[in-house]
Amino acid sequence: MTDRYAVIGNPIAHSRSPDIHAQFAAQTGQQIRYERLLAPLDGFVAAVDAFRAAGGRGLNVTVPFKLQACDYADRLSPRARAAGAVNTLVFGSDGVEGDNTDGVGMVRDIAGRHHTVLDGLRVLLVGAGGAARGVLFPLLQAGVAAVLIVNRTPDKARALALASADSRVAGCGFDELDKAGRFDLLVNATSAGLDDAAPPLPTSCYANARLAYDMVYGARPTPFMQIARSHGCAMSCDGLGMLVEQAAESFRIWRGVMPETEPVYQQLRQTLVAG
Ligand code: ATR
Repeated sequence: MTDRYAVIGNPIAHSRSPDIHAQFAAQTGQQIRYERLLAPLDGFVAAVDAFRAAGGRGLNVTVPFKLQACDYADRLSPRARAAGAVNTLVFGSDGVEGDNTDGVGMVRDIAGRHHTVLDGLRVLLVGAGGAARGVLFPLLQAGVAAVLIVNRTPDKARALALASADSRVAGCGFDELDKAGRFDLLVNATSAGLDDAAPPLPTSCYANARLAYDMVYGARPTPFMQIARSHGCAMSCDGLGMLVEQAAESFRIWRGVMPETEPVYQQLRQTLVAG
């Protein structure tokens, strides 16, 4: 029997995950079916229960259900616990495992596709919501020297820094950045890009940085990428690679085999650019 997986969210029609996992399955010879699952905003648990009852083996979880997926799981991986959010559920005979592959996806994309060694870098993490929380622990595990979290609501940045219980992490507001020194890596984890805007960073933050990484992606360079490049940052990229890498890690967790991500990334990029 073909094993069933799905991505659950609301909205979900835009999700590229079915296409990505179909390519992984074809590449590795795995017999799986992977669908989109639209859950009502107040119906996450019922939708997951129904999918499991119908024989579902695992789920990817996206907006707005990553926190509820954390509560749903019987056990959490250390990285899911650190993120406080789950994007991968595994339904086994001994209960439900919750994992989070977003952060490791970003770290692999930065190190592999963008050839940037994270060890020893000074990082400016912009934003203190769920997206930022998801990548903080994997960045620290990758050996960065320091992470300054900056957020529109400074207290949220400071709280996230405190919760990390790691002396390399601090939090602040945008008006405190002038005296923060220089950064090697800038990560945009705000939702500002969704309104076609960049976060309000002083332009001095971009000067001499190696990489500006936007967690969102699109057909064109995002406003954050464009501003970074025009103010002296050497490289910029969007989050399409992260999308493919997090999917590959979920696939590995479910199927025990790591797919090749580069052909899938290239195909998605071409589709995006072609519109
Ligand atoms: P996500 O799960 O995508 O991280 P979230 O938890 O709602 O979503 O967090 C959104 C983040 O983007 C927050 O850090 C938010 O700042 P606040 O905590 O001050 O709300 C940030 N954000 C959203 N719009 C922004 C904007 N126009 N400028 C700067 N930061 C913005």
